[in-house]
Amino acid sequence: MKIRELLSTRVQAAMTAVGIPDSFSPMVSPSNRPQFGDYQANGTMAAAKKLGTNPRELAQKIVDQLQLEDVASKVEIAGPGFINIHLAEDWLAEQVCTALNSDSLGMEQAEQPQTVVIDYSAPNLAKEMHVGHLRSTIIGDALARVLEAQGHKVVRQNHVGDWGTQFGMLIANLEDKTAGNEVAEAALSDLEEFYRDAKQRFDNEPAFADRARDYVVKLQGGDARCLELWQQFINISVTHSEEIYQLLNVTLKPEDIKAESAYNDDLPVVIELLKQQGLIVEDQGAQVAFLEELADKEGNPLPMIVQKSGGGYLYATTDLAAVRYRNDVLNADRALYFIDARQSLHMKQVFTLSRKAGFAKPEFSLEHHPFGTMMGEDGKPFKTRSGGTVKLAELLKEAVEKAEALLQSKESDLSAEEQKEAARKIGIGAVKYADLAKTRTNDYIFSWDSMLSFEGNTAPYLQYAYTRIQSIFRKADQTVDNSVAPVLAEAQEKALALKLLQLEDVIDQVAKEAYPHLLCNYLYELSSLFMKFYEACPILRSDVAAEQRASRLSLCAATARTLQQGLDLLGIETMERM
Ligand code: ARG
Repeated sequence: MKIRELLSTRVQAAMTAVGIPDSFSPMVSPSNRPQFGDYQANGTMAAAKKLGTNPRELAQKIVDQLQLEDVASKVEIAGPGFINIHLAEDWLAEQVCTALNSDSLGMEQAEQPQTVVIDYSAPNLAKEMHVGHLRSTIIGDALARVLEAQGHKVVRQNHVGDWGTQFGMLIANLEDKTAGNEVAEAALSDLEEFYRDAKQRFDNEPAFADRARDYVVKLQGGDARCLELWQQFINISVTHSEEIYQLLNVTLKPEDIKAESAYNDDLPVVIELLKQQGLIVEDQGAQVAFLEELADKEGNPLPMIVQKSGGGYLYATTDLAAVRYRNDVLNADRALYFIDARQSLHMKQVFTLSRKAGFAKPEFSLEHHPFGTMMGEDGKPFKTRSGGTVKLAELLKEAVEKAEALLQSKESDLSAEEQKEAARKIGIGAVKYADLAKTRTNDYIFSWDSMLSFEGNTAPYLQYAYTRIQSIFRKADQTVDNSVAPVLAEAQEKALALKLLQLEDVIDQVAKEAYPHLLCNYLYELSSLFMKFYEACPILRSDVAAEQRASRLSLCAATARTLQQGLDLLGIETMERM
């Protein structure tokens, strides 16, 4: 049920009926205060100003034309011309009932499903996944789930870094290690350590450095032995990230990997096409595009190198090829890139040149959705105590351990096995939610204490709210009759029902703007309204009539399902007890 859309359509129709051009939006949004109704339409003022009429009179004319008898109990004009809409309890109750009877909680499938590429996670395979990859992985995955739930075709693209000069020293080192009887898996069990070792040898052993450089050239030339070593390295590195994805409950699969190297053959084609169209020129031996679109204040166009003077290609060249692939082969309508804000200029360059070169058709929407940096509690970028990068595997392990300790400190009737499972869901959920709940574009402070708190806008709080509802059902020992609509007699019941029905509007906004925190806020508000309802409206007390109990239980059921479904869209699991 998209309430906002329904009301917007109706108000727009009334505006049209009184002669207001379609270009004026009805501006319908949920009201902040119940006394202003459940929704407000604030578009009258702008229209009146333009048409030179009195806004209150215009609002009255619109209201006279407004057909909302089936959904609203009252429509009022307030202030300079706001239209306040009070929704009818009966109608809301019926919608809750309909939602409960649908697998998707009444969410509709997109009328025009799109093909949406989501470019996310994308670690550099030369090293181990570290916290720098966390945000892209978590946020991108939430968007993949949301768009899929809406019925879009989502193509996950894990644009992993598997090419570049550092692989010369890595495979030379791997060759030496495996020659000495060590199996590759063991040698590469700690990628970070392996990388450090290779780098140290590269810096200190001239013969090793020469061989590493030679291997880079051979690798690019397709030398079988070098490719074999490289492939071995990549396979093991990919296995490391697969383990993390699994632990993180992230939907990326090995087949979603479309690595940088997959575009190698297309790179000379990209250069050729740019040349033919006169979009690049030679500058000090390199091939460069000068983008007037991104000129500085003095009007100097921004140079973007697409081929180095030695003939080597760059990160940007590969991204241009990826745009071509997504446009021509995947035939995508949208591509969402979840990459650190520090790469904003890079993305602008890639998008601008792709458009000019016709690599992306005009209707193909290219969207960089940047995010800020994860900070430590000292306000500096998140590091280990000794100042090193934090390995993701270790961070996640710590999260589960902390959740385990937390559960152990509480009284619980869970078996050891159940407690372990719950700790995993709580620990991982806490890390993911803490990230998702912040406005994506801001930096955020990573704090164990706040993310693992059972109070406030956290995963444990929402998971706990869910288990509380489950415990009500266990005590009630009665199933919900989905065919009967709840009775919304108390203000808290109405407020809860209204919130329940706003899920789809929120999901729609998340899908459009790629801001998962909107869904987090929604779930948090929903839980808070549920707690208020629970305090004000007894359910299991012996003096509650059977019908009223059934009605309230159906509100409980709808809340539990909305919480579960909402958290699932964020990639966070729930449990029956904790
Ligand atoms: N591997 C890159 C990095 O670690 C991120 C790649 C993002 N995706 C892209 N199409 N450029 O910075």
